[in-house]
Amino acid sequence: MPDDAHPLSIAEMPVQRPASPATAAEARGRFFNTGNGFNVQLPAVPDRIFTDEPMRALDPATPTGLIACDISGELACAFPATTPLVLAHYARIRSGESLETDFNASGVIAYAITGSGGTRCSGEDIAWKAGDLFVLPGGAHATHTAGDSDAVLWIVTNEPQLAFENLRAPASGKAPTDVVHYRGGEIMRQIDLLYDVGRGENIAGSALIFSAQRQEATRNILPTLTAAMNSLPGGAVQRPHRHNSVAVSLIIKGERCFSVIDGKRKDWAQWATTITPPVAVHSHHNGGNEMALFLIIQDGGIYYHARAMGFEFAEQPDA
Ligand SMILES: [Fe+2]
Repeated sequence: MPDDAHPLSIAEMPVQRPASPATAAEARGRFFNTGNGFNVQLPAVPDRIFTDEPMRALDPATPTGLIACDISGELACAFPATTPLVLAHYARIRSGESLETDFNASGVIAYAITGSGGTRCSGEDIAWKAGDLFVLPGGAHATHTAGDSDAVLWIVTNEPQLAFENLRAPASGKAPTDVVHYRGGEIMRQIDLLYDVGRGENIAGSALIFSAQRQEATRNILPTLTAAMNSLPGGAVQRPHRHNSVAVSLIIKGERCFSVIDGKRKDWAQWATTITPPVAVHSHHNGGNEMALFLIIQDGGIYYHARAMGFEFAEQPDA
């Protein structure tokens, strides 16, 4: 019988240790091989829709605070995570109250779902209202204050990316972004422009991609994260495709809309956060008459940098 001492294959070998370490540093060595330590399999990123978290965030009874879309247990991550590199939260801020945030991230992307208010960060003040998007430097303390009515924000960071490497957020002034504010009216003007100009079928959709002065050369919003306001006219289908980046999306508007992910239908719900797993074939479908809008955050920058985005149009498999 094969056992640890007499395995049939290197795949069955237990972890190996040095035979006669002379120092503590030598004793810390461990050895695996192509059979048991290569092509490591971790729990897959699930095709998930978070609806309880937005329901709680939009409930007037919920106090000021953050609600994370955290499935770290399912992902076998030792830190809060929506996907291995991305963490999405909802923040409810009661009228006249403030929420202090100090994310251990390189940058913070926030979208105002309801209400209006202001954010103070890095010595700058911005006044936002529902429909606005803003970016804050990671490692900078921020104070978010709601105005005359309660406000709800959707806040996405790369906290899991830093936690994975046990890194700390950049020192003051060293983050890869400044404070950047995109007003809702300007976002819609830019989307209208995309439709005025039009596109060919070889372009993956009509999404507005957010960038900023400091990240203009990368065409991203942050080195790792990308942010896009995707749109889908009534009756339209976004052509099936796949990419190696994960997508964490906020459904802003989309009656009778759904996605098909690896052949499986996933119905949308307003203000839900959805996960489109990496590599999965996905298409988005608008069965209604109104333009659908969904804000997509991806860990795309890391794949662009690694030259490994793996984008391709693809056919949906049978469910
Ligand atoms: Fe996609």
